[in-house]
Amino acid sequence: MSQPLDTGVLRSTAHSPSWAMLNRISGGGTSGGAAGALPGGLPGAVNGGPQGGPQAGPQAGPQGGTPGGAAGGPGPVTPAPVRQAEGSGRVAAPVPPALGPVAPYGNGAAPQPPAATQQRLDFCIPCNPYFPTPHMFGRLRDSLETILKYYPSDADTVTAELCTVLGLNPQTVAMGNGSTELITWIDHLLVKESLAVPIPTFGRWTDQPMETGKRVDMFPLREEQDFALDLQEYVRFIRRRGSRVAVVCNPNNPDGGYLRRSQIVWLLDELADLDLVVIDESFIDFVDAERAPSVADEAAIRPNVIVLKSLGKNFGLHGIRFGYCVANPALAATVRNALPKWNLNAFAETVVFMLKEYGAEYQQSLTMLAADRANMAMALAALPELVVFLSQGNFLLVKLPNGVDGAALRDRLLTEYGLYVRECGNKLGSSSRFLRLVVRPHADVERLVAALRTCLYGTRPAPLHPPQPAQQPVQPPAPVPAAAPRPPQAPAVAALPVPAAVS
Ligand SMILES: Cc1ncc(COP(=O)(O)O)c(C=O)c1O
Repeated sequence: MSQPLDTGVLRSTAHSPSWAMLNRISGGGTSGGAAGALPGGLPGAVNGGPQGGPQAGPQAGPQGGTPGGAAGGPGPVTPAPVRQAEGSGRVAAPVPPALGPVAPYGNGAAPQPPAATQQRLDFCIPCNPYFPTPHMFGRLRDSLETILKYYPSDADTVTAELCTVLGLNPQTVAMGNGSTELITWIDHLLVKESLAVPIPTFGRWTDQPMETGKRVDMFPLREEQDFALDLQEYVRFIRRRGSRVAVVCNPNNPDGGYLRRSQIVWLLDELADLDLVVIDESFIDFVDAERAPSVADEAAIRPNVIVLKSLGKNFGLHGIRFGYCVANPALAATVRNALPKWNLNAFAETVVFMLKEYGAEYQQSLTMLAADRANMAMALAALPELVVFLSQGNFLLVKLPNGVDGAALRDRLLTEYGLYVRECGNKLGSSSRFLRLVVRPHADVERLVAALRTCLYGTRPAPLHPPQPAQQPVQPPAPVPAAAPRPPQAPAVAALPVPAAVS
């Protein structure tokens, strides 16, 4: 049975403690990965392939259906104020009576450990719950001795194999020990004086350049606009500040906001004079809004563009630490040459060499995850006064009801319900009113929703109005306006047995 957790550990670090650390301190039964074995079939509710996943409907938001940037037409391409392409809205519950703050442990009572039969569930670390498959984990277990005893191949060998699997040109790729290693080196090598980045976002994009004395120009994403990144405004901001490097995370962490490929290409054209533009596509495999969302093929042939990918996110293996970037051969070599020869570990190598056998399973995992995301968004939106932002990542940003302190709620969910969530109080541009909740299978979400019901409304009267939005069917994504017919997927990524986003 789990030990009660000392939640001081949550407050004692600037960042959330790792899932492994929580396990070490608590010794409790946990489930951070797949909720059981890979289900045999796809959920019936999923519509088809990566294009057709149901979206959480933007019932309450005014943002739906904003035009995307036109692609490929003659003359300057001017995107309309860019929103998260798939309706950039939110699914909000009706207004119930006023709520008071959540006491850390109920009404002053001591924390109750989660029931002995219940595993702890990780809604904090954005893993893919369906990948790697149990079969892959079995093979890794069987190879443990060899993996641990011997040197891995050098980075060039592992990179060459990854490029074979993904259909990339190895000259255009540098592999890092997690994409964080690449962010570090991109900063050291290529950011000379200033970097612009929308916030809130992944903390290394603000902290890393500040640690090395660069000026960081932070462009606040506005809650009133559902954290949608308006690219025209962003470009104006970059011009006003004179930023020499620009970053966009697509989808963004923590809100999951997504910009279509045509919109990102427009941005790359606009910023062709900058020292560097980085598109961080660490979560792009989870996008189901369009079939080939990555701009990696553009990065390979432009002078000033790097696309960044985190294999840890896609494959649900954060601990292995592998990521890669794509850029033109000269730029990619600049990064590659800075890295140690054996910067990739033997686990990473083993997984890379296994990947080509598991393309179908990976694709299936993404389809299931997209269905889970839509269902989880609806389930959360049914909670009164909880605002759920539409996301194309494998997590959902939610805003808590007025007066609720996210840190206290996080502690209570962990200690009493065994549910670990990411409270966003330490993210620049966010606050403790926001939680980032990782998409998990239905049964896990039911546990979370039940716990939230008790913590947020347990001692209060039922809401005045029934939670309408969640009763309604999820709307399909708004049609994408004005985009020119998308050319067939570039051959470089077509060889990939999984969605092109991996490339
Ligand atoms: C947008 C973004 N980029 C990069 C990373 C780092 O990923 P990695 O684990 O590959 O270092 C993260 C981690 O959360 C992230 O959110």
